[in-house]
Amino acid sequence: MLSKDVLKEIILANEDFIVKQVKNPVKREGLHFPASLKKVVVLYGVRRSGKTFILFDIFKRHKERSLYIDFEDERLSGFQVKDFERLKEAFLELKPHLISREIYFLFDEVQNVDGWEKFCRRAVERENIAVFVSGSSSKMMPFEIHTELRGRSWSIEILPFSFKECLLAIHIETEGEDIIYGVKKPLIKKHFNDYMIWGGFPEVLLAKSEIEKRKILKEYIIAMFFRDMVERYNITNIQLLDALTDKLFSSFSTKLSLTACYKQYRDKFPFSKDLLFKYYRYFSDCMLIFEVRKFAESTYKRMRNPAKVYLIDNGLGRRVTSADAGRLLENLVFLELRRKEYEMFYFEEKIECDFIAKISDGDLLPIQVCFELNEENISRETEGLIKACRAVDATKGLILTNDDEKELSKDGINIKAVPFWKWCLLRDG
Ligand SMILES: Nc1ncnc2c1ncn2[C@@H]1O[C@H](COP(=O)(O)OP(=O)(O)OP(=O)(O)O)[C@@H](O)[C@H]1O
Ligand SMILES: [Mg+2]
Repeated sequence: MLSKDVLKEIILANEDFIVKQVKNPVKREGLHFPASLKKVVVLYGVRRSGKTFILFDIFKRHKERSLYIDFEDERLSGFQVKDFERLKEAFLELKPHLISREIYFLFDEVQNVDGWEKFCRRAVERENIAVFVSGSSSKMMPFEIHTELRGRSWSIEILPFSFKECLLAIHIETEGEDIIYGVKKPLIKKHFNDYMIWGGFPEVLLAKSEIEKRKILKEYIIAMFFRDMVERYNITNIQLLDALTDKLFSSFSTKLSLTACYKQYRDKFPFSKDLLFKYYRYFSDCMLIFEVRKFAESTYKRMRNPAKVYLIDNGLGRRVTSADAGRLLENLVFLELRRKEYEMFYFEEKIECDFIAKISDGDLLPIQVCFELNEENISRETEGLIKACRAVDATKGLILTNDDEKELSKDGINIKAVPFWKWCLLRDG
């Protein structure tokens, strides 16, 4: 059993660390917390995406009344659900003026305490405590959250930095027209090119050299594979895991057929088709890849067609050359739409349209991603977009490009081509 004195020491040491050592965290976009705090806010997402820093930021904003605990702290090993009550008492003994006032409990890697949901639920419902928890384990994903918390949790997925957050992190102002049209434009374009290649993991972005960036990404991959996959799921067929990793990380933004993968590898080393499907699932469970399904009336049709696969971050893409610019841009578009929590499909009826996004109020917006819009491809790109617009009764379609801008109208459908980086910076919120 952990003594109150030890708990008090940890509480104060954490407070001291956050207040003194954590410099102003970059403000994250689109974090919508519930108006009534009678819900447990659950921050989940891939490793190193910035969840802990969001807790630090909340702490700094309410430092007089916040408690931060990291349940990966070795001093807390053996912490059990019944210790939460003692933790609360220790905190209030340190700050007796907060008794009966609203306080903030910030619990990091809380999945390490079995049954944490029970205490957190009681805290928000009956005790005037605002609770924010976080963790990178798949146990924190909405569909894994314990029934105890169903309807009482408010889950927020934390992805690596968006382009706007990246600019904020390197102190480039993102408000005002001059970023789009003025002297800052070349600078923004340079950073956008870097973002497309290196992605948005905060530490990678802030690293000074390419060598450092590469090293950080390599370490992330090792941690994600060995700690999150091999150890957690007791993976034994490392050769299969390696082959699948290579496949997924090099063929993002394309349709992936696992049956074709199976045929490709089965003569090279032994494994069953079931195992391949299982390993593939682990990649989604660890939030490393996401699937987009075909737009179709029936669930059956949707599931029968291969999914398109996207990566959690462009920095993890393998063997990327300039010829892959279109796929990198498409991956960024996917991530941006996901940040907006839009449901997405791809469209394919002889001709393709990259996304159909279900935007607010259930409206559907067809979106085509085209790195460079030119004489040769414009009719194909617009044709796919128009076909998708017709299929969903939309009167507007969007083409997201690297640089090109255009507006045209065809068959009563308005098409706007906008550079993606501009679209990211100009949209509200
Ligand atoms: N908002 C931010 N402002 C500045 N730096 C940040 C921010 N968010 C993250 N970072 C940087 O990225 C690193 C990783 O962030 P953080 O520890 O918050 O990620 P995490 O999602 O909690 O990772 P894990 O799942 O491994 O615990 C931090 O150590 C920090 O250097
Ligand atoms: Mg963390």
